[in-house]
Amino acid sequence: MTSAANPLGAHVGEHPGEPNLADPGLVSDPFGGYGAIREHGAVTRGRYFDGTPVWLVTRFDDVLTVLNDRRFANDPLSVPGQETDTTAAYAAEALGLPEQFVPYLLGNLLRKDPPDHTRLRRLVSRAFTVRRVSELRPRVELIAEDLLDRLPDHAEDGVVDLIEHFAYPLPITVICELVGIPEQDRPRWREWGAALVSLRPEPFADAIRAIVEHVHALVLERRAAPTGDLLSGLVRARDEDDRLTDTELVTMVLTLVLAGHETTAHLIGNGVEALLAHPDQRAALQADPGLLPDAVHELMRRCGPVHLTRLRYATEDVELAGTLVRRGDVVQPVLVAANSDPRRYSAPDRLDLSRERGGHGEGHLGFGHGAHYCLGAALARQEGEVAFGSLLRRYPDLSPAVPPEKLARVPVPGSWRLTSLPVRL
Ligand code: HEM
Repeated sequence: MTSAANPLGAHVGEHPGEPNLADPGLVSDPFGGYGAIREHGAVTRGRYFDGTPVWLVTRFDDVLTVLNDRRFANDPLSVPGQETDTTAAYAAEALGLPEQFVPYLLGNLLRKDPPDHTRLRRLVSRAFTVRRVSELRPRVELIAEDLLDRLPDHAEDGVVDLIEHFAYPLPITVICELVGIPEQDRPRWREWGAALVSLRPEPFADAIRAIVEHVHALVLERRAAPTGDLLSGLVRARDEDDRLTDTELVTMVLTLVLAGHETTAHLIGNGVEALLAHPDQRAALQADPGLLPDAVHELMRRCGPVHLTRLRYATEDVELAGTLVRRGDVVQPVLVAANSDPRRYSAPDRLDLSRERGGHGEGHLGFGHGAHYCLGAALARQEGEVAFGSLLRRYPDLSPAVPPEKLARVPVPGSWRLTSLPVRL
C-alpha cells in the first residue's frame, strides 16, 4: 500500500465539531475540557494542532494500555506502508525549518522505536538512575540554597517572580552541569527553550539552528579536551565505539537540556502555586518535610507541566476500549485527563499530598509510562523535593502577591506553564 493510499490518521476521518488540541477552550481549561471529553467516551475523534486527525485517549487504564503496547509506535515510519512523515513536513513548512535541521528536531528518543530507541536510550540511561541522581542531591541543594539566598535581591516593592528567579534557574543549572554546558552559554539555552515552546516559526527555526551550531562547537571542544561530563561520554561513544552518529549526538544533547529544564521549571512553578492556594496542604508539608516525596507525586498528578504525550501510531489494527483503531491511525494519549480520571481516583480534583497511591509506584502518568517513560523522572522528582522543601523552610511565610485569577499561562497546547509567579517572601 502506498503512503498516498494510507495517510496517517485517514481512518479517524473528519467530523464537524470534533475537538482540536489548539482550541482556546482546551488550552485555557484542559482539566474541564479534556475531563468532558473523557466522560463523553473512552476514545474520541479529535485533531492534532497541525490538523492531523487523531484518536484522543483520556481514561487512565486506556492511556496505560496505549503506552505499554508495542503495536503503538512513536515513529510514524514504523507503520507498515507509511513512506512519508507528515510531522516532518509540518516542521519544515509550518515552522519554517530548513530541511537539513529537521533530523535534529525529530530524531530524538521520543520519536524512535527499537532498535534505535533501545541503543540511544542505553547510552544515557545510566546517568539518570535513582542511585546516580541521588548522588547529585547535595549539589542540587546547594544550587537551590544559593538561589534562595539571592531572592530578596530581586524583590521590587517586596515582590519576587519565582519563575524567573527560582523555578527556572534551578533545573537549567542542574541539567547543564550534568551534561556539560558552560555557564556562560546557559542564558541562551533558556531563550532557545522559550522560542521552541512558543512554536512561532521564525524564532523556532532560528533557535534550532543556533542550538545545533552551539552543540557542534561543544563536541569539538570535548573531543580535543574531554572532561567527566555526559557530553564527553557521548563523544567517546561516538568516536571510540561508533555507537551513535554525529547528528544523534547533537540531538541527544539538545533533547536532554531542553527536556531537562523547561518541564521541571514548571513543575516547581505549578507546585508552588498549588501549595499557596491550599494552605492546609502547605501547612502539613511544612510541619512534616518527610511528606515531600509523596507531595511531589501528588503535585505531578494534579498540576504536572506535561499534559499530552507525543503522538503514537498504530502499526496494525488494534481494538482499544471498544473502538477499532486502524493501522496508520494516530493516537493522542491525554495525561491530564488520565490523571484526574474518577475511575482511578476518589475526589480526583482535590489536592491531597497524603493520597494513597494504591501500590502503583508514583500513582500518576505525568511522566508517561512504558518504554518512553521519562528518562529524567528521578532527577525531576528530586529537584521538586529540594525546591519545595528548601523554599518553604527558608521562607515559611511565603505568600502570593497576586490573586490566582491574575496568573497567566503560556497558551500552548499540551503544556501547563505559568508566565510568572509573583510572591512575597
Ligand atoms: C520523556 C514528562 C523532566 C528527559 C517524558 C515523557 C513525559 C515526560 C510525559 C514521556 C512522553 C511520551 O511518552 O510521549 C516530564 C516532566 C518532567 C520531565 C513532567 C518534569 C517535571 C525531565 C528531565 C529530563 C527529561 C529532568 C532530563 C533528562 C526526558 C527524555 C524523554 C522524556 C529524554 C524521552 C524518553 C524516551 O523516549 O525514551 N518526559 N519530564 N525529562 N523525558 Fe521527561
